[in-house]
Amino acid sequence: MTYRMITAVVAVFAGVFALSSFVPQSIPQPHEWKATNLKVLPKDITQEEIKQVMDDFKVALGVKCGFCHAQDANDPKKLDFASDDNPHKETARWMMKMTQRINKKHFKHRNEQTGELTQITCITCHNGKEHPVTVSR
Ligand code: HEC
Ligand code: HEC
Repeated sequence: MTYRMITAVVAVFAGVFALSSFVPQSIPQPHEWKATNLKVLPKDITQEEIKQVMDDFKVALGVKCGFCHAQDANDPKKLDFASDDNPHKETARWMMKMTQRINKKHFKHRNEQTGELTQITCITCHNGKEHPVTVSR
């Protein structure tokens, strides 16, 4: 190789190197999901975790997602999960806070076998129904 060829090759490499440092690193990220209207659940909750919470609500009350979530204004076949138009959603928020409060302040029972702290959840009262059984004397 002549001296000129070597300098040419080095120059090309240097050029590519310099250029690559300006090109943004586009490593493909998995689709990042973020809830937009949380007032009780932690804002950084993952999609998996929120799905688990919502499935638990569904089972606890024996309802479908649409019991608490409003229809999408653009597509009535879909639900708009961030919308607060369905009043049951606000009731559910209130119930979530009440349940947290009961566990934190009042319910300190330990399981006799394991010694673990027992907590109440929606299903403790609802037992698969929208309206828990209420008995009047
Ligand atoms: C008993 C009522 C109830 C049921 C049933 C329910 N949800 Fe929810 N959902 C809520 C409440 C309340 C919130 C808001 C929580 C908060 O403010 O922290 C919420 C929030 C969400 C969000 C986050 C929306 C956003 O961007 O802020 C998603 C997604 C969601 N629910 C999906 C579902 C799915 C899917 C189902 C059915 C499997 C379902 N929910 C069933 C009450 C319910
Ligand atoms: C300490 C008992 C208790 C716990 C715990 C509880 N609920 Fe309730 N919930 C009730 C009672 C009682 C009602 C009123 C039923 C009625 O009006 O007949 C109710 C009503 C509701 C309603 C309104 C139903 C309707 O048709 O108007 C929603 C929604 C609801 N609860 C969601 C939840 C969710 C979600 C949780 C868990 C985060 C939860 N509840 C935990 C006792 C409880």
